Amino acid sequence: MTRKHLIYTSAISFLLFLPSLIIAQAINHNNYTIQKSITCTKGAVVCAHPLASQVGLHILQMGGNAVDAAIATQLALAVVYPGAGNIGGGGFMVAHLKNGKNISIDYREKAPAAASRDMYLDKDGNPLLNLSQNGHLAAGVPGTVAGLFASLKYAKLPFATLIQPAIDLAEKGFAITASQAASFNSTKKEFLELNTSPVAFVKDGDWKAGDILVQKDLANTLKRIRDKGQKGFYEGETAKLVVAEMKKGNGIISLSDLKNYKAKERDVVDFNYKGYQILTMPLPSSGGIILEQMMKMIEDKNIAEMKFETAASVQLMTEVERRAYADRAEFLGDPDFVKVPVKTLVSNAYLQERMKDYEPGRAGSSKNIKAGHIHESEETTHISIVDDEGNAVSVTTTLNGGYGSRTVVSGAGFLLNNEMDDFSVKPGVPNMYGAVGNDKNAIAPGKRMLSSMTPTIVLKNGSPYLVVGTPGGTTIITSVFQTLVDILEFNMTVDDAVNKPKFHHQWLPDVLFIEKGFSPDVKKELQAMGYDIKERSAIGRTEVIQIKWDDTTKKKTIIAVGDHRGDDDARGY
Ligand code: DON
Repeated sequence: MTRKHLIYTSAISFLLFLPSLIIAQAINHNNYTIQKSITCTKGAVVCAHPLASQVGLHILQMGGNAVDAAIATQLALAVVYPGAGNIGGGGFMVAHLKNGKNISIDYREKAPAAASRDMYLDKDGNPLLNLSQNGHLAAGVPGTVAGLFASLKYAKLPFATLIQPAIDLAEKGFAITASQAASFNSTKKEFLELNTSPVAFVKDGDWKAGDILVQKDLANTLKRIRDKGQKGFYEGETAKLVVAEMKKGNGIISLSDLKNYKAKERDVVDFNYKGYQILTMPLPSSGGIILEQMMKMIEDKNIAEMKFETAASVQLMTEVERRAYADRAEFLGDPDFVKVPVKTLVSNAYLQERMKDYEPGRAGSSKNIKAGHIHESEETTHISIVDDEGNAVSVTTTLNGGYGSRTVVSGAGFLLNNEMDDFSVKPGVPNMYGAVGNDKNAIAPGKRMLSSMTPTIVLKNGSPYLVVGTPGGTTIITSVFQTLVDILEFNMTVDDAVNKPKFHHQWLPDVLFIEKGFSPDVKKELQAMGYDIKERSAIGRTEVIQIKWDDTTKKKTIIAVGDHRGDDDARGY
């Protein structure tokens, strides 16, 4: 190496390293507050944890675009929000790029090669949900790290810059919030039962707000990814640690499962609703198709006139949800393995037929309303980001249940997902979200399990107008549906659309679930129509960004709101 070359490479390394120095100084790991909303003009990040949204914001401010920020925010969430942020799980990204291109990246987990259709049934055919939901055997082959590298081609900054804040948070530690402390305390028993080595999330006595969580093993895994790229996770030391962990707990993920995992770019679900262009996730998430079905089933019904949270609007949306979820159970699965009649399912003719037996004022019944006739052959996390260049990114990632399988890979410090439970372990047997399925979503080696994640972007006049998404298992699609209807039809503020009580129907069980705070009068009216109504815990944690353009000044205002149901936080500049 010549002297000139040496000076040049040292200068480049210094410049690459500089941003992480700036971040390390700017974000106080141990003293921070939660900011629920922000109105700004350039860019914004909203996600489940204030430290992660601050990481995303700093990446934007140092010249990264929305994809850079999405990568860095996901990695930070894998450290500061271990219940759902992850490198041992999977996710989906939908993005509108400044050049007008719309992309989606599928990094959903896959069934390991040794998986089989009846692996969660006993010899009499009874489901063994304990195995599909807890511990080593529940884990699918993780997709997140491959997804981050697949996104990198749309980013501007080096990966080393994007991962460094996460490494610092894991290595130096950070103060946990009150809700994180409560969550660790309530999961302690499972962490102890489902792990063979001590895990960072368990300590003597109880956690409390402000305690510092340090994750050295995770920091070392992140460093291997920084230094070796995707191979730092799917091959070498990390892969060996995953397979060693599998051996300890009868898991089946192998070295070749890891080495062969690939993220996939897929065609975005792209449809028009009253002049808005809606971009959302295709299969293997059911989210996009089901959202399109629901939006199209209400399109000719003048729901705006019915108004927010009236018996009429809730009933219409419930009946639409019932029909769409019946189709989800019957027709949807990984398109690389099963044939799905997508075109028919979202066609106007089919959807009009589906709504023929809808009767205003009278509850439908899931016993009578089944999937349509086709004649052709709670824990996840969402990030919404926009930048000043015109890019918008909507990412939902998951471990499935809170802390996934609750099993940490010994020596590697990250949690494995329990995504295998999103397959239909047996036709008609509900998964942990009560969703049923059939052969289309049966387990097969290398197949991706059906998801409900619905990262969504709405364009108005070709530019990003809304970025929306949420966790919540099967309630994800109905929460995104409700958010779009609230804003596009009821003209609600983003804050109200995020925070007002939500409701949910998913065909089976034939129950209309409502959140605390739902109008008691409307509840009574709906009961009189024949609905079985149950109040349930919080529905989703919706993260929304809206961009409003002033026609005269041609200037934009960004409004970003994090859900009040959690520690969700919005930052912008
Ligand atoms: O992919 C899915 O649909 C589920 N694994 C999502 C799980 C989830 O949202 C849990 N969050 N509360």
